[in-house]
Amino acid sequence: MELELKDDDEKKFYFKPFGLNNLKGKEWEGAWRDVKWLMPWIKPYSRQGMVAFILFITSVLIAVLVPRIVAFIVDEVLLAKKYSFPQMASLLGILVLLKIVSDIAFKWKVTKIGQSISKKLREDVFNQLGSFPLAFFDKNSSGRVISRCVNDVSNLSTFFTANFFSVVSDLAIITGSVIFLFTLSFKAALIVLVAMVPMVIFMLNVSMAQVVWGRSQRNILSRLSSHTADSMNNLAVLHSQTFSSKWVRRHESLQTLFANTVLRNIYVWGSFSSSHVLVMGLTYAAVIILGAHQLKTGDITLGRMIGSFTYVGLIFGPFLDITEKLNALLNALGSVQRLKTILPAKPEAADSVLAASDATMPTGPIVFKNISFSYRSDTNLFKDFNLELPEGEVTALVGRTGSGKTSLAHLLLGLYPLSAGQIKWGEEDLSSFSAMKRARWISHVSQDLFLFTDTLRENLRLWRQEITDDKILERLKLVGLLEKVQSFPGGLDMIVRTETLPLSQGEKQLLLLCRALLQDPRLLVFDEATASLDQLSEEEWLGHVSKLFKGRTTLFIAHRLETLKLASFVVVLENGKIKKTFRKEVGKSVNEDQIH
Ligand SMILES: Nc1ncnc2c1ncn2[C@@H]1O[C@H](COP(=O)(O)OP(=O)(O)OP(=O)(O)O)[C@@H](O)[C@H]1O
Ligand SMILES: [Mg+2]
Repeated sequence: MELELKDDDEKKFYFKPFGLNNLKGKEWEGAWRDVKWLMPWIKPYSRQGMVAFILFITSVLIAVLVPRIVAFIVDEVLLAKKYSFPQMASLLGILVLLKIVSDIAFKWKVTKIGQSISKKLREDVFNQLGSFPLAFFDKNSSGRVISRCVNDVSNLSTFFTANFFSVVSDLAIITGSVIFLFTLSFKAALIVLVAMVPMVIFMLNVSMAQVVWGRSQRNILSRLSSHTADSMNNLAVLHSQTFSSKWVRRHESLQTLFANTVLRNIYVWGSFSSSHVLVMGLTYAAVIILGAHQLKTGDITLGRMIGSFTYVGLIFGPFLDITEKLNALLNALGSVQRLKTILPAKPEAADSVLAASDATMPTGPIVFKNISFSYRSDTNLFKDFNLELPEGEVTALVGRTGSGKTSLAHLLLGLYPLSAGQIKWGEEDLSSFSAMKRARWISHVSQDLFLFTDTLRENLRLWRQEITDDKILERLKLVGLLEKVQSFPGGLDMIVRTETLPLSQGEKQLLLLCRALLQDPRLLVFDEATASLDQLSEEEWLGHVSKLFKGRTTLFIAHRLETLKLASFVVVLENGKIKKTFRKEVGKSVNEDQIH
């Protein structure tokens, strides 16, 4: 899998604006391949799709038949009086009613199918993102990833809902109307066909221009939002250093760029709709003049003339609609191309329950076996690295800044793929663990304090229903946060967010430690997890919770030597290599000489 998501190349798409010669066979093939790629998501709805198709055909058939029937009523009923008018009028009424009903039913059906498909696609993208290694998120900004999850799937959703069928129905109405027009007046049909040539060329070019420009508009918008987000997130820096005029000017120039692209779009759309009105008006005029002339010479009946006139409207009317929707359709195909880079080739069964095999507790020591790993291809951070974390004991990992401690912890958590070697947990290979199994048996606490926007309860038990409030309160008491939490409005029911939780940095860290212990993991990874606590609080905390470490394999990364009291095994890391390891008595301090 490509780890880096690419931005769209504005120039490279299926088609280029202004120039029908760009409609190369290969590019149509590309579009078709993308639609085919979606098939596995569409297939489960084929039966419902058939119902929608029947409704669709009914509606289109009635639409193109109506002018033909009107011609018949005028000629045969009103003028020739061959049939009874009320009977024919009620037949027409019933047909129109049937069309209205089938239109509504069709839209409802298609929207329902479209929503189900997009829901599944969104779930799959979300699940897939969860299974990506951290390296993926290092390489792609969150904005870009979110745009895949939200915008691209929404684009597709419009594809599946009204747009696709609306374009197909417009095309069917145009084709059917041209055919029926030939049966009414051959010459009028020829006039319409000639007038359609410039209309089709305009339509294709404007749609394509809109796709390309729409894309640049979105790119500018996303730059504007990341500029705003940067400003919000770094207000302290901007205020304390300098709210630089350059920074503000960058915002202004992005705004101008955005306004210009919007104006350009409006200009193109305006020119197109005026040309549309002009071509349609001229065609109407030509058909009326021809009709009037033919009426005089007796080459056409009044009914047929009215019918032909109505068909002109039916044929030209949908052009504006198609142009507008084609833009959305082409965009949707662009979204399929982007989604293809992150989605698996077919829908995946949701993996939200712990499989029985994953629920069995892994046992044994954790062994790094000849592992190699690098962030960049040119340098290895770890090469043929070997280490064993004894089962059920606390291993302290120390070393200078940048020596690779966090990286080692991340490898243990499966956040980055190894370039060689294995990490084994007893007999099992850690890389074979499912995401659910990892989440069940491994807990990680780092300095990054992150809370989900949900109740405090769910933040602590991580949606595991079997963890009761009593258990949560007991653990909160253990880390010394019970009174604080009880003073919150709503207590455990309070909705929290990382930024708004009324706790100090150290208290937040205690909360996360509490969360890790509540999960009852077999492997605990603490990466400077107590760094925000003052020494006294840290000692107090360690004193309280040390009994909870019993039986759990723990990797404790810490800078403060006092923290290492808990450990029975110490590993000193230097530049990705083990400098030394030694065993010690739990509770005994480590001194500087021992780790140098
Ligand atoms: N996401 C990353 N992409 C590229 N290189 C990285 C990344 N994270 C860390 N590194 C590099 O890997 C090396 C080890 O970093 P690591 O974060 O593992 O060190 P550490 O021992 O945890 O340091 P500290 O004590 O400061 O937390 C560093 O030289 C750093 O430049
Ligand atoms: Mg670190």
